[in-house]
Amino acid sequence: MAHLRLGDTAPDFTAETTEGKINFHEWLGDSWGVLFSHPADFTPVCTTELGTVARYRNEFDKRNVKTIALSVDPLDQHKEWVKDINEVNKTTVDYPIIADEDRKVSELYDMIHPNSDENATVRSVFIIGPDKKIKLTLTYPASTGRNFDEIIRVIDSLQLTANQSLATPANWKEGERVVISPSVSDEDAKERFPGYDTIKPYLRMTDAKKK
Ligand code: BEZ
Repeated sequence: MAHLRLGDTAPDFTAETTEGKINFHEWLGDSWGVLFSHPADFTPVCTTELGTVARYRNEFDKRNVKTIALSVDPLDQHKEWVKDINEVNKTTVDYPIIADEDRKVSELYDMIHPNSDENATVRSVFIIGPDKKIKLTLTYPASTGRNFDEIIRVIDSLQLTANQSLATPANWKEGERVVISPSVSDEDAKERFPGYDTIKPYLRMTDAKKK
């Protein structure tokens, strides 16, 4: 499988999950999606990650985002491990975990990096838009738990800029000023973003309005 790139259509698949058999595109519906893989069940970092995603349920819901996890472990093992995740993180995992024993999905999404580990998925993240296009890819090593605040921050940026000629600067957080895209002329910018600031002719800032 060639590398998936931003703007590619997220490959569709049918898979066994802790919530039953899922057809990915159908399951996504009109939502945004976060598909993320972890190396193995009953491992420490993964236990904190899957619990964190469950604890962020309201944050994902507010943004119309569905989450789905994956490893190559079998379904019965996922189901046993979920009990630990819930206990340790004082939460309830209420999103599906794919049991990708035959590696079908891992291969579609290039989640196994053999020079790192032949038998386990790395920590991949794919953010997928309602148009089923890939908006972000991330690859983390097994030893580093992901920062889900950053995933939420990127979703906020993507949703803010989806229909506007805006971008978000370094370390931007929801509510902070945003950048007007270089493709917008000053004339258009005056009309669309009245009162914007010109710091350099190519660096123009304005208040953000979520549409
Ligand atoms: C972990 O989740 O803690 C982990 C999994 C695989 C390798 C290293 C750490």
